[in-house]
Amino acid sequence: MKAAIITASDSGYAGQREDKSGPLIKQILEENGYQVVHEILLPDDRTRLSQEMARIADNEVAELLLTTGGTGFSPRDCTPEATMDITERIVPGIPEAMRAYSLTITPRAMLSRATAGIRKSTLIINLPGSPKAVKESLEYILPALAHGLEILTGQSTNCARS
Ligand code: MTE
Repeated sequence: MKAAIITASDSGYAGQREDKSGPLIKQILEENGYQVVHEILLPDDRTRLSQEMARIADNEVAELLLTTGGTGFSPRDCTPEATMDITERIVPGIPEAMRAYSLTITPRAMLSRATAGIRKSTLIINLPGSPKAVKESLEYILPALAHGLEILTGQSTNCARS
């Protein structure tokens, strides 16, 4: 499966802070057999984020699009809204699962407003911004993702376990 990564960070985009979460997502995805075909660092701008998400989905750049950052309460945090702007079908179970698991690690997990949805044949998932939160959230959802992506892309048509 092909994957794309968007880091949403004003300070990262301005060169004031190194983006550690985007490269960490890439590493975890590659360790799990994904081919990371696109990575981009954008400011916390709702229009720019949603346009880039739509472009990736509409051009079939990747079946899986992970975002990191911008899911909290800062005034500029808008990644969930950008995602909802362009997704056609919501996928509530994935952020529910991330938060349920993450709450066993920190009560602050409830502060992530992360969402997920499908546009065409691309599954878009928001991850929180910190490398710690990225690792904890992504490693928890990855085992179930492969099956969902197979269904989404027509490589599998049923849920029977082999
Ligand atoms: N989830 C996990 N697994 N581990 C964490 O440390 N941090 C939380 C939450 N989710 C955290 C987590 C915190 S402190 C915040 S503010 C929110 O994610 C939103 O993060 P963001 O604004 O960087 O996207």
